[in-house]
Amino acid sequence: MLDRLPQPGSDPLWSLISAFRADPRPGRMDLVVGVYRDESGETPVPEAVRRAEARLAQAAPSKAYRALSGNAAFNAGMVRLLLGDVPARLARTHAMQSVGGTGALRLLAEMIAAARPDATVWSSDPGYINHRPLMTAPGLRFETYRLREDDRALDLDAMLDDLKAAVPGDVVLLHGCCHNPSGIDLSEPQWAEVSAFCAARGLIPLVDMAYQGFGDGMEADAAGLRRVVDENPTVLIAASCSKNMGLYCERTGAALVVGESPAAIAPVGPLLERIARASYSMPPEHGAAIAAEILVAPESWLREVDAMRARVNGLRSALGDALEAEGADPAFAGLRRQKGMFSLLPLGPEEMRRLREEFAIYGTDTGRINVAGLRHEQIAPLARALHAVSRIRTFARPSPAAPLQRQVELIG
Ligand SMILES: Cc1ncc(COP(=O)(O)O)c(C=O)c1O
Repeated sequence: MLDRLPQPGSDPLWSLISAFRADPRPGRMDLVVGVYRDESGETPVPEAVRRAEARLAQAAPSKAYRALSGNAAFNAGMVRLLLGDVPARLARTHAMQSVGGTGALRLLAEMIAAARPDATVWSSDPGYINHRPLMTAPGLRFETYRLREDDRALDLDAMLDDLKAAVPGDVVLLHGCCHNPSGIDLSEPQWAEVSAFCAARGLIPLVDMAYQGFGDGMEADAAGLRRVVDENPTVLIAASCSKNMGLYCERTGAALVVGESPAAIAPVGPLLERIARASYSMPPEHGAAIAAEILVAPESWLREVDAMRARVNGLRSALGDALEAEGADPAFAGLRRQKGMFSLLPLGPEEMRRLREEFAIYGTDTGRINVAGLRHEQIAPLARALHAVSRIRTFARPSPAAPLQRQVELIG
């Protein structure tokens, strides 16, 4: 049997991370890994998490098996964090603890496939690298819509033009905030248009919320999602506590299903539990118990998230200033206004290779960098290197057909 196993190529991100680790150059920069780092280069454990962990250690609760749906207090806390304390929303929402945001996406994909095996999931191009494997694993079809900037804002016409091919019952995958990999988010009026578009056409929004708090603030980042929930009969939500609580390896997240009425969501719980039972049985308790503690009195945690967001925004403006001081092409200006941890550089694979080989700066071949992985002392050398590799001849305005990475004509 083993001789018949398919041999998937190695994961491109992990290959880059291994190459970075093997690179002996002192000024090397890892802008690949998707974790927040502080000024010392560490991925910190928030104080609120440490305190909650200490309290839990003190209480030493039993490690006996828990419910298939996970920690009930966590689920309730996550619903309030995502949807606000609005009884009309809460009454039509079912929440299930998941193995990180990834696990939530997979649970929801399995649920969609159980209900509508012929559904197509529409995801952004560029998009999160794991959306396609997660959605197609249970056999769903996968198509993309264009996501790019036009005149300093997301080009909604291109996005909705592509989504016109979606049919009722298809699923539209949206990033709740801080789009990975582009940092290009929907504005408030654009959320309104997308929400109305889905409602009018019977499309089901699936909102992936992996960075709540990193864009404009915990409440502001949920505003688009909440509008979608208020205006659409069925909405799916995949939420992650990896970034905003720093619980990456604790695998803490939630899958939420919002239906038209409390009766409409009645079959959701048993189905999700059956899917979980046939996969991992029940989710890990530790991260959820920490998050549940934090969500009861979230004030100090919210201040810590505010500080992380301020740091990322500070890095974005410092990099913008440094690029301007270098006289770099205005095509880099998006770095300053984009949201969250990631941006796509207006560079092709050849320039990304030069960044690695000549400057020991590691981003992905698609041009993605993790701005939240930078330290201030790295800003000036990064700006110099970006300017050096981007001997750009023409910054053509995006043509409707051109994906983001291919919009820039480069001299090799
Ligand atoms: C858009 C998006 N969705 C989901 C995830 C998965 O989150 P988790 O690590 O909680 O599984 C990530 C992580 O990078 C992400 O960027």
